[in-house]
Amino acid sequence: MASLVSFLAFHFLFTFFHYSSLAANVNYNIQNLGAKPDGKTDSTEAFLRAWTSACASKHPATIYVPPGRYLIGAATFAGESCNNPAITIRIDGTLVAPSNYNVIGNSGNWVKFERVTGVSVIGGTLDGRGTKLWACKNSGRNCPKGATTLAFYNSNNIMINGLSSINSQKFHILIDGCSNAKLVGMKVFAPGNSPNTDGIHVEKSTGVTILNSKIGTGDDCVSIGPGTSNLWIENIACGPGHGISIGSLGWVLQEPGVQNVTVKSSSFTGTQNGVRVKTWARPSNGFVKYVLFQHLVMVNVQNPIIVDQNYCPDHHNCPNQVSGVKISDITYQDIHGSSATEIATKFVCSKQNPCNGITLEDVNLTYKNGPAKSSCINAFGKFFGLVLPNSCLRNILSLAKRRK
Ligand SMILES: *[C@@H]1O[C@H](CO)[C@@H](O)[C@H](O)[C@H]1NC(C)=O
Ligand SMILES: *[C@@H]1O[C@H](CO)[C@@H](O)[C@H](O)[C@H]1NC(C)=O
Repeated sequence: MASLVSFLAFHFLFTFFHYSSLAANVNYNIQNLGAKPDGKTDSTEAFLRAWTSACASKHPATIYVPPGRYLIGAATFAGESCNNPAITIRIDGTLVAPSNYNVIGNSGNWVKFERVTGVSVIGGTLDGRGTKLWACKNSGRNCPKGATTLAFYNSNNIMINGLSSINSQKFHILIDGCSNAKLVGMKVFAPGNSPNTDGIHVEKSTGVTILNSKIGTGDDCVSIGPGTSNLWIENIACGPGHGISIGSLGWVLQEPGVQNVTVKSSSFTGTQNGVRVKTWARPSNGFVKYVLFQHLVMVNVQNPIIVDQNYCPDHHNCPNQVSGVKISDITYQDIHGSSATEIATKFVCSKQNPCNGITLEDVNLTYKNGPAKSSCINAFGKFFGLVLPNSCLRNILSLAKRRK
């Protein structure tokens, strides 16, 4: 009897461990698949082999990148034939782009995920080595467009946590056509004069959250393109760079709108803009609505609050028409600090579609420790509480005045 019990117990334990080990994470160490941590040996194939193996497994899989520098070329991780909805890429090392920018400069993206579900990227550094390409671009020579460092297209349930991206050739991180993506604890850096190196660009996506990150680049810290909805941005330190921008929008006639965007508890230091909405002066059926900018600190920012519907950064071949993009229901709440130019609050809206439902509440922006100015064209809305510089929004009485 005792031996039967111990046999059953043994059998139970054996079965239990057998199944639990099957259910456990399968681990693919890219060094075992041929990757070399020397920064010189092309390790692209090892990463792709790890991806193929992880995709073939039905159990949650981890692709592990140990410390060291791994040279990889343009790589696409495709989800079409991937059976695994839980793949984690855990990076303790640095992925480096080829030193010759031409190798990936025309491929659009460097590390690209397409139609994947349930992918997490944890830790690690991506070094795009963009310096020589920026120099080429800044010299006005004919250069490749440059590659986006890390792109997710048409993907769902994405997590990027604790990733650093430095010196991207072009955009650092792109979320395009995705739903439910969480980006947390990111560090994104490129010099303030590096062209087109936006930190995180989101478009045609819904349910994207960006938290607790430091972003300093030569372009927008976060840029928000057409078709973005339900975007939450919180606790970002931005600078240097062009601020957090919705747009540019309205280059084409048929364009999906941007709605339900929150940017809160963030700081902007020495940036060209704080929070900006920018549209081209062209016909378009695009729109921006339900946006909240809240609890923001501006330190020496050129345009802390700006809507620009005549956006044309190079000032040549400007469309010079009237923007069709409709901007409404934008709230600025608890925004403090200093402007580096006299006009701290600026609304340049479309003659055809004036900005509507703009709200300013508890805004105090100074210029050289004194008063700043505001400027409004075709902008309608109201203000509450202390608003400095004074609101120039048209036609609506403030609650305070109405109460008198
Ligand atoms: C707006 O987006 C947030 C996430 O950023 C979401 O929780 C909320 O439900 C959305 N609101 C509407 C009305 O869709
Ligand atoms: C606005 O902010 C400045 C700088 O922080 C401060 O000195 C000033 O007292 C504030 N103005 C009001 C009316 O609170």
